[in-house]
Amino acid sequence: MINKVGFEYLNKKGESVFETFLKYTSEKEKSSAVLGEILGWLLITEGVAVLDVGTGNGEFLKLSLNRIKHLKAAEFTLLEPSSDLVKRLQTAAKCFPPNSIVKVAHSTFEEFKATSQFDVILASHLPFTRDRLPVVFGKMLDLLKPDGCLIVVLRGWDDVHEFRTRFKSQLMERGYQSLTIYDAIEVFDEFAKDKSLSITMHNADSELCLPITGNTQDAISIIEFLLNKKWEEFPDNVREAVLDYVNQRRGVLRQIDGFALVRKT
Ligand SMILES: C[S@@+](CC[C@H](N)C(=O)[O-])C[C@H]1O[C@@H](n2cnc3c(N)ncnc32)[C@H](O)[C@@H]1O
Repeated sequence: MINKVGFEYLNKKGESVFETFLKYTSEKEKSSAVLGEILGWLLITEGVAVLDVGTGNGEFLKLSLNRIKHLKAAEFTLLEPSSDLVKRLQTAAKCFPPNSIVKVAHSTFEEFKATSQFDVILASHLPFTRDRLPVVFGKMLDLLKPDGCLIVVLRGWDDVHEFRTRFKSQLMERGYQSLTIYDAIEVFDEFAKDKSLSITMHNADSELCLPITGNTQDAISIIEFLLNKKWEEFPDNVREAVLDYVNQRRGVLRQIDGFALVRKT
């Protein structure tokens, strides 16, 4: 179990750096529209069992469900290892669509023991390293019913991916590659050599507009969110390089959320 919230959910002057990020990006709006459409295709009968791994504060799933016009009664298991986020989720669960049953499970995915299989498993923006993916995705496929669908959401090759790869490498003083949806696809292609899987992809394109001239404090918070480090801990040369990068793009970074739908066939 994790007792602390991740860097993205830490409060800074009344709001988390993640909340600051959300004010300047269309990502959640565009991505929840795509996820809502996908869930709309999948939740067409009553009682569909959905597992959301690493739910966070529940906002993404809730926004996506709100996009579905006539949502059938479904059963959601929200799995979250952070104690603080679990408390927030218990409150957020009350605002899920009224016809849904919501259970909050306090566990890491690795320690999670399910009593039955799921029709749909959602794994959105989980912080697993590339070498852990075969084990993690293997367990997700095992937890899926024979006709179930696994939805993996990860960043595509966008400006934010380039930004994080370049500057996290400088901050960590070693090569860093942020995970993309193509790493996940590679793992499923490997599985597909022995298992019968169908893999389809969808994208959600959006923009992040850093307020570099209007609200520098918020722009810095967003940079901290993207690089998971406090600005005061950045070496001077990295600060300058980061500011050059965003200024050259007038603060606008292109974002792509990649969705992989993996079905057992
Ligand atoms: C970037 S957030 C994504 C939240 C949400 N899924 C979304 O897309 O908005 C990553 C989440 O994964 C959770 N997490 C981290 N390690 C995990 C693990 N081993 N098993 C399950 N969840 C984990 C974190 O606590 C956090 O809530």
